[in-house]
Amino acid sequence: MNNKQKAAQAAMDYIKNVSIIGVGTGSTVNYFIEYLADVKSQLDGAVSSSEASTERLKKIGIPVLDLNNVGDLDVYVDGADESNAHLHLIKGGGGALTREKIIAGASKTFVCIADSSKKVDVLGKFPLPIEVIPMARSFVARELVKHGGKPIWREGFITDNGNQILDVHNLEILDPVVMEMALNKIPGIVTVGLFAVRPADILLLGSDQGIDIIK
Ligand code: 5RP
Repeated sequence: MNNKQKAAQAAMDYIKNVSIIGVGTGSTVNYFIEYLADVKSQLDGAVSSSEASTERLKKIGIPVLDLNNVGDLDVYVDGADESNAHLHLIKGGGGALTREKIIAGASKTFVCIADSSKKVDVLGKFPLPIEVIPMARSFVARELVKHGGKPIWREGFITDNGNQILDVHNLEILDPVVMEMALNKIPGIVTVGLFAVRPADILLLGSDQGIDIIK
């Protein structure tokens, strides 16, 4: 079992008695979806953060529900590209950050699953994904340069919401909450891939030694 799989398996402890679960996106979550197949009789359904996860959930027979019809969720399980010790995250490597942030915001408990390489002291080595309205891309990029970043357009990639992604390099994010709030003010940005205002609640890190649980 690899380290992503270990984290995904550990998340199963947090969904006992849960009937509607929030499901994130990415290779670690794909392992989690495989585990969900074993408990699908317990589930009324899932709220999915991407078309990719929706397809996988449907394939194993788990109904995919509209967030508008289910209210707040008890548990959301998703991966991350980086996490610091405060469970502030960088997410959006897979481009699903907007729906991920919505579901995280609508969930009582956000369980983040990752392999131990994702844990860092300071966020920013992984380029920060930012979803932008297409017509605003160049303007937003110039604004991001003023914040000290080097934005690179993820060319050819369109999000599930029909938008584009800028990956912002060269950031050393010493205060993720302040940075997230500042970037949120730039017109044309749909979602900043910093999850610090609403961080994860539990981080399950799979490593060669087993599982680290950080709360
Ligand atoms: C997708 C994400 C993913 O959670 C993140 O990219 C981690 O992916 P993986 O589990 O494949 O390492 O934010 O938008």
